[in-house]
Amino acid sequence: MTQDEKKQAVARAALELVEPGIVLGVGTGSTTNCFIDLLGPLADRLHGAVSSSEASAERLAALGVRLLDLTDVGRIPLYVDGADEANAKLHLIKGGGGALTREKIVAAASERFVCIIDDTKRVETLGRFPLPVEVIPMARNHVASRIESLGGRPVPREGFVTDNGNVILDVHELRIDDAPGLETELDGIAGVVANGLFSRRPADLLLIGSEQGVERF
Ligand code: A5P
Repeated sequence: MTQDEKKQAVARAALELVEPGIVLGVGTGSTTNCFIDLLGPLADRLHGAVSSSEASAERLAALGVRLLDLTDVGRIPLYVDGADEANAKLHLIKGGGGALTREKIVAAASERFVCIIDDTKRVETLGRFPLPVEVIPMARNHVASRIESLGGRPVPREGFVTDNGNVILDVHELRIDDAPGLETELDGIAGVVANGLFSRRPADLLLIGSEQGVERF
């Protein structure tokens, strides 16, 4: 089974959790795109979707899914999104696509966060994937030197601007044993908008596409 087939399989499994009439939170990335592409026939039966990025919003709109602003929405019963890494505690690294801040907001506002990945993203310890950190542009050097003092090697994502007008530092060489502690510490650096650790608000359900089918944790 190819990686793409695994992504398709978890996308189909997540679709089964979508109930008619709900407000759906929708993430960003290639796995989420597989999920979005299945939503077309359901578009009329959804109340609408809150998107975590301009790219996903465009894809949803093209399928006729009504887009909702988070500020106008009371509750989001279900949020579906991918991840770059996931461990057994359902702690995640996200932000490979640069949408981490809005993803974190939608995840925080959601009652149930269902994360969909293929088995290449399952890890014992987070940190092999460089940790994305969204930073206010003027704070780039300041944040980079604070991250270096924590043992990371921050690399600016060249030519990339987030939907919020900020820059991304991808932090290499972190071994993340205490994800909630590091998540809090990074958020405490002046100039950091958000970091790609999702551990204080982890996934509630992790669906993993593998050779065995879709595994649930
Ligand atoms: C987007 O910013 C990310 O958080 C994605 O959810 C993550 O990078 C997974 O993307 P893929 O499904 O494309 O691997």
